Amino acid sequence: MRLNEFLGTEFPIIQGGMANIATGEFAAACANAGALGMIATGGWDGERLRQEIRRARELTNKPFGVNLMLMSPHADDIARVILEENVRVVTTGAGNPGKYIPAWKEAGIKVMPVVAAAVLAKRLERYGVDAFIAEGTESGGHVGEMTTMALVPQVIDAVNVPVIAAGGIADGRQLAAAYALGAIGVQVGTCLLASEECPIHDGYKQAILKAKDSDTVVTGRSIGGPVRVLKNKMARTYLELEKRNAT
Ligand SMILES: Cc1cc2nc3c(=O)[nH]c(=O)nc-3n(C[C@H](O)[C@H](O)[C@H](O)COP(=O)(O)O)c2cc1C
Repeated sequence: MRLNEFLGTEFPIIQGGMANIATGEFAAACANAGALGMIATGGWDGERLRQEIRRARELTNKPFGVNLMLMSPHADDIARVILEENVRVVTTGAGNPGKYIPAWKEAGIKVMPVVAAAVLAKRLERYGVDAFIAEGTESGGHVGEMTTMALVPQVIDAVNVPVIAAGGIADGRQLAAAYALGAIGVQVGTCLLASEECPIHDGYKQAILKAKDSDTVVTGRSIGGPVRVLKNKMARTYLELEKRNAT
């Protein structure tokens, strides 16, 4: 089974949740283009999410879902709004979503945690999740340590539900490679930042388009919060502060 059959989308592609970027309007544009659109919630409370879900419903009748960033101080609130607004697909990032899964499953929601290690996938499988998104360290945003190439087959071997590959995927060759590793499809984030519909500044889009293989860096490793970002002045300053053991 391929991801498009699993989700009822045209293509085997999920638009990854991206905090403060993946609005209801952006998720609807991705859904209309044939992927699974995802509304991200990092930085928002439940009421803002409710508005964004309603906005997406005005703009598309194609499937879309909600991404819960587990580090959010509003995580409980958002998990409740997901139920109240009858969201059909949920992905979770940056942590263990175990406490929310029973209520979501009871409501018939498809739950797909993002994992950066096979051990977490194995633990969460017991809650009855529907699939996993195995995200390698090539990904933009919060990252784990393992590469997509090493991680995806290990998650596939560890669990009995479908696995979607993410991290460093931006074209058809990489989708084919994800299939070769045993994934049913892919989740992408960074490449969509450069799309016309993406609500970020044009300078950010141009920086993404210009970036080459060695133009990203991981900040926050020393404080247990690794995040892959473009290697710019702010990232360099951040890394210098880290080296000096700033808080
Ligand atoms: C700017 C940015 C913000 C992101 N924010 C989130 C987020 O809020 N929640 C989440 O689960 N993943 C987040 N991600 C990860 C994406 O959903 C996706 O898994 C990742 O971008 C895939 O790797 P790629 O960037 O190499 O395509 C973010 C990624 C980027 C680039």
